[in-house]
Amino acid sequence: MLKAVYPGSFDPLTNGHVYIAKRAADIFGKCVIAVLDNSEKKSMFSKAERVDMIRSVFKNDKNISVAAYDGLLVDFMKKEKSRVIVRGLRALSDFEYEFQIAQLNRQLAPEVETFFIATEPRFSFLASHAVKDVFKWGGNISDMVPQEILERMIKLQNKD
Ligand code: PNS
Repeated sequence: MLKAVYPGSFDPLTNGHVYIAKRAADIFGKCVIAVLDNSEKKSMFSKAERVDMIRSVFKNDKNISVAAYDGLLVDFMKKEKSRVIVRGLRALSDFEYEFQIAQLNRQLAPEVETFFIATEPRFSFLASHAVKDVFKWGGNISDMVPQEILERMIKLQNKD
């Protein structure tokens, strides 16, 4: 049994992310969802909030765990003793960005391999930034995120 690490900023987790995490856990045996910072993005939810939200989604999935990490993904891989990074691909437009990250991580840690899982067509348009935008302006995101995420997003919004 292998342990795959599925890294991302997950701000917030979408149904597309759920699909990739479940496929990774099914194929590799175990999946650790790693919540990391993307220096290109300003997050809406704190890392602790994101971890808490994601844990609530996978509370019944014994082979999926969630962790937060401050630092490089390759250092998290060492900490977890995993050599398998999983990332989802929605369309060809994702490829350039993903390929760059994969090559960078390969240079930093040649023993680690990045595996790509193609998403289902129904998730190909889904992106966290779009979910946040629709939510912010009062649009319906119930088909885009798990129920647990929607509930927590509403709760956190009402807190402000
Ligand atoms: O969901 P995202 O925002 O596309 O995920 C990108 C992420 C968080 C996986 C990437 O930015 C990352 O690995 N950040 C941690 C710092 C790091 O290792 N940077 C070098 C590789 S880009």
